[in-house]
Amino acid sequence: MSQREKALSDTAQLTVDGKSIELPVYTDTEGGRAIDVSELYSKHRYITYDPSLGSTGICRSAVTYIDGDKGVLRYRGIPIEQFDRPKPNFIEVAWMLIFGHLPTAAEMSEFRGMLTQYELLHEGLTHQMHYIPPKAPPMVVLSSMISMMACYYEEFLMPPDEQSFMMQAAELISKVRTIAAFTYRRNSGLPFIYPDPSLRYCENFLHMMFSIPYRQYEVLPEIEDALNLILILHADHEQNCSASAVRVVGSAKANLFASISAGVNALWGPLHGGANVKVMQMLESIYNGGKKPQECIEAAKDKSNPFRLYGFGHRVYKNYDPRAKILKSACDRVFAKLKTSDPLLEIARELEGLALEDPYFIERKLYPNVDFYSGIILRAMGIPTDMFTVMFAIGRLPGWIAQWKEQYDNPSTRIIRPRQIYTGAPLNDYKPVDER
Ligand code: SDX
Repeated sequence: MSQREKALSDTAQLTVDGKSIELPVYTDTEGGRAIDVSELYSKHRYITYDPSLGSTGICRSAVTYIDGDKGVLRYRGIPIEQFDRPKPNFIEVAWMLIFGHLPTAAEMSEFRGMLTQYELLHEGLTHQMHYIPPKAPPMVVLSSMISMMACYYEEFLMPPDEQSFMMQAAELISKVRTIAAFTYRRNSGLPFIYPDPSLRYCENFLHMMFSIPYRQYEVLPEIEDALNLILILHADHEQNCSASAVRVVGSAKANLFASISAGVNALWGPLHGGANVKVMQMLESIYNGGKKPQECIEAAKDKSNPFRLYGFGHRVYKNYDPRAKILKSACDRVFAKLKTSDPLLEIARELEGLALEDPYFIERKLYPNVDFYSGIILRAMGIPTDMFTVMFAIGRLPGWIAQWKEQYDNPSTRIIRPRQIYTGAPLNDYKPVDER
């Protein structure tokens, strides 16, 4: 333990009902402090109360670190800004998040080979997609197909060892990309374009999305780079709602596929990953003559109005989301390459400017989050709005897998089972219906 840590008290005193209770205090890598209340109930019959878990750690994790006050995000200790580099590589980052360090060339080659090997879906799964109602929301298709995968690959139902875990991770990362593309094709009434084993991960996705029979889609390098970057920026984010859903389900020893499917469903929520769709709808509404930007700002501030400024605010970031900064500059790069522009980007910039000068947003430290600009780039790639949260899920998948594995490997993991403050009826008796 460092001298600094020694200098910090490693116990806290809780005085309640005339009793003094000593609680251990931990210091994390970055100096964060945690009071351990895990035995408060078993030893003293008290629970703590923190309904949205804003002050509650549910695990020790080494995957990602966020300093919300400073707008810092690091994957395995590496600042997120360092992944905004020439030829960003989502699969390299995915491997690092899951296995704990940047992969060697040999490790990358092995994993790439597995992603190619597992890129096809079992034809039974493919046929199943045709029986899902045509206008099913893409996130419904994604979460149900991931659960369904376990029916075609019985080995996924077994608790994985190291080798089969790597196989399952590769299967998920490769097949979720195929399922996503097939979902888009299905919903668009287009024939499935099968993966091409000669293509790189993102290149193959764009091929499956936009090629048509006998006419291969030409993937511009800048677009492939932008997609790699977007997926990297979404890859993990500590104990966010969907990662926690994956941990809760996984803590019951549910298999990886069931746990990931739960994460997909949590991500779909408009307060979480579904916000990127809501941002686009908000910007389109302004563009189509709906509310003006200032009216959106006023509506977002009006407590009697359910409208929120989607893409703004964050439970942890009380500063600019570093991912939003990177995405905002990536918009300019993509549009410069495509030699196009998007009026929605100008509207987004105007909204951001108005909000960042408004006392309501300043006082509450509400800044653009990852969802505010991501949709504009996805739209520039030709990806439809209803697929935006699916793109978020493709990006977040390695993070979910990493979080699930970290918990799975921890021998002290117990089933996650919170307690409650009971506010219901006191003891009373059953009354037969003729006495009610
Ligand atoms: C993601 O957790 C993660 O890491 C998530 C994520 C990830 O990578 O996994 O970063 C991805 O989910 C990003 C967030 C996407 N969601 C949105 O953009 C939806 C709009 N944002 C909000 O709904 C809200 O900011 C949340 C859900 C993101 C955070 O909710 P909190 O932490 O519960 O904050 P809160 O609702 O308590 O807000 C505090 C105050 C409230 O006002 P007061 O009661 O103090 O007067 O700020 C207000 C809120 O009303 N507020 C907003 C607002 N966000 C917060 N007011 C208007 N518009 C907003 N967007």
